[in-house]
Amino acid sequence: MSALSVLFIGGTGVISSACSRAAVDAGHRLTLLRRGSRDVRAVPADVEVLTADVGDPAQVREALGSRRFDVVVSFLVFQPEQARADIETFRGRTDHYVFISSASAYQTPPARLPLTESTPLRNPFSDYSSAKIACEQVFVDAYRSEGFPVTIVRPSHTYDPTHVPLHGGWTDVARMRAGKPVFVHGDGTSLWTLTHHEDFAAAFVPLLGLPQVVASPTPATALARGLLVDARPRS
Ligand SMILES: NC(=O)c1ccc[n+]([C@@H]2O[C@H](COP(=O)([O-])OP(=O)(O)OC[C@H]3O[C@@H](n4cnc5c(N)ncnc54)[C@H](OP(=O)(O)O)[C@@H]3O)[C@@H](O)[C@H]2O)c1
Repeated sequence: MSALSVLFIGGTGVISSACSRAAVDAGHRLTLLRRGSRDVRAVPADVEVLTADVGDPAQVREALGSRRFDVVVSFLVFQPEQARADIETFRGRTDHYVFISSASAYQTPPARLPLTESTPLRNPFSDYSSAKIACEQVFVDAYRSEGFPVTIVRPSHTYDPTHVPLHGGWTDVARMRAGKPVFVHGDGTSLWTLTHHEDFAAAFVPLLGLPQVVASPTPATALARGLLVDARPRS
């Protein structure tokens, strides 16, 4: 694929930091939009950084000026009003907008496994997941009504070197080292999907700018299925 101009909203987060590195490695011209907090994760060399707070759409529009991008990825939409604000900001400014949703949007508990892209979206147990579903609906409506070129990607539980993907965090590691048991969710037989952020990025970056994935189910859960972790205790 030829080099694309790509804007990541976020870009130094748990998931997005690996995507930033992978996008640069793929030869794309990458711009990040973020507040510019103290860097936990490095910004790759040759990446342009715009400074704005997404909580203030006017500030975002000022930072963007008249810029347009082949692809825009937002890692920071959590509420329907933010989705609507992004549609206003990026309508006509990009050929491909990617919304980072969540695999927790899938029907919970699932009526059948494995989860696929056609699994219904309903998670009444999580306000976060319900809001992501509502955001998805806003984007789908925008695609149907005006052709807004959106792709929805639903990552599963993702970790990086700064983040221990255990319910108890570093406490669990300390307990394991001390030979003590750790708490697990449910009765210890449930399946859980963990994805390393570089594995996510390797599947994600090739989607950027692909017309085939606009408004289509994406293979993000297929990636997750390949990495399904069997969390049952070993005897
Ligand atoms: N991690 C998971 O397990 C998981 C699973 C499913 C879905 N997701 C989704 O993945 C997305 C999170 O991606 P991530 O892990 O890369 O993000 P993250 O770790 O939360 O990092 C946040 C990034 O966004 C910037 N940022 C934060 N608040 C901002 C603001 N108000 N204005 C502008 N920039 C801001 C931060 O830089 P500054 O601090 O410099 O602004 C940083 O670059 C979310 O949409 C989440 O729902 C995550």
